[in-house]
Amino acid sequence: FKFTQDELKKIAAYKAVEYVESGMVLGLGTGSTAKHAIDRIGELLREGKLADIIGIPTSTQTHEQASSLGIPLSDLDTHPVLDLAIDGADEVDPDMNLVKGRGGSLLREKMIEGCCRKFVVIVDESKLVDYVGGSGLAVPVEVVPFCWKFTAQKLKSLFEEGGCVAKLRVLPENGEPFVTDNGNFIIDLYFKRDIGDLRAAGDAMLRLAGVVEHGMFIDMATTLIVAGSFGLTFQLH
Ligand code: A5P
Repeated sequence: FKFTQDELKKIAAYKAVEYVESGMVLGLGTGSTAKHAIDRIGELLREGKLADIIGIPTSTQTHEQASSLGIPLSDLDTHPVLDLAIDGADEVDPDMNLVKGRGGSLLREKMIEGCCRKFVVIVDESKLVDYVGGSGLAVPVEVVPFCWKFTAQKLKSLFEEGGCVAKLRVLPENGEPFVTDNGNFIIDLYFKRDIGDLRAAGDAMLRLAGVVEHGMFIDMATTLIVAGSFGLTFQLH
């Protein structure tokens, strides 16, 4: 019996929601996998199986979905410590380091998911990689719009030896820059090989004045749930 990729996302998401208990402050992720988890939380609240949940959404998109489901929402200013966050990822390496931000929400995701007692990452098996960048997908970097070409060039030159292509993310419909929830742009970095020390690479990016945040979530996930043709697997950090 073969599941579609979306069914696998849903299986992982529903499993993660089993960690949710009444009274929790919850980080609500962004993307097609997290969406299933938020739907499920809404359903359990409606059925009275969960109560007193407060959701902290990681994007305007998630804010809209959660509020349409009647999930009470708040923010980090009011709730600086969260019990649990559930979110998807674009890539997961063998040490449970993540790449996030294909949906463009990496900054809010990192702010919120960095304040959680537990961060459960939910993916289908296609997201597992041997090293960051290993799927051929980009590592997204949020940059200020001011002189973004200059910042893109600086980012590229940090990784000259590893070989790196830096591309401004644009909207497919009109070629205009993609603008994040925070009014910034995204530079997508494509690496030709393993960049090695992720923390050193991330710190070097953050030292560039035009960089706001990068999409590598190093040592942040506490639990990984992978849904695949082999069933569900769990990894704890
Ligand atoms: C949003 O910016 C991203 O970090 C998503 O969490 C990530 O792209 C996973 O999305 P999917 O679940 O849609 O693959």
